[in-house]
Amino acid sequence: MDIANKKWETLCSKEDIASRVEELGRQISQDYEHKKLFVVSLLKGSFIFASDIVRSISVPVKIGFMTTSSYEDKFESKGSVSVLHDVKEDIEGYDVLIVDDITDSGITMNYVVEHLKAKKAASVKSCVLLDKPSRRAVDYQADYIGFTIEDKFVVGYGLDYSDYYRNIPYVFAVTDEDR
Ligand code: IMP
Ligand code: MG
Repeated sequence: MDIANKKWETLCSKEDIASRVEELGRQISQDYEHKKLFVVSLLKGSFIFASDIVRSISVPVKIGFMTTSSYEDKFESKGSVSVLHDVKEDIEGYDVLIVDDITDSGITMNYVVEHLKAKKAASVKSCVLLDKPSRRAVDYQADYIGFTIEDKFVVGYGLDYSDYYRNIPYVFAVTDEDR
């Protein structure tokens, strides 16, 4: 199945995203004014959001990248996460802000927070563009949230469908209706 022939419902327009990113950037800049901010962007989903959010931050910031993959284990209630590419920089003593595209089950973020705390970061917080609270499998809440959405599969602005559509500059939900 492809989604090219399905109707797309825009959830967050380019303008919605731009103004929310500005607000989040202002808040983060205030909160990290006298701290040692280190943003860790989770690839690939957050690459566009992270690039916008760091440009809306006005305090000094270092940036690193991490790639994880998550597996749904049929035999366990919890999925497991593996690190495909770890953050290369030494983050000891830094105030780490993890940036991701979406919190769905929460399993990825829950894991990455602990993984980065173990590297002796001074603090570890998280910022996500989207939050789907109804899908949570573990008790996790991001510290900065762009938009809270219903349980719909969403695509665009970094989020993919079979690795496509990350370049669409807005967030949309795929409907069952044909175009
Ligand atoms: P979690 O570990 O279940 O919270 O999911 C984390 C990852 O699943 C996200 O970083 C996304 O890459 C992916 N994901 C979850 N929901 C969606 C969606 O609606 N569209 C595209 N990717 C999603
Ligand atoms: Mg993905």
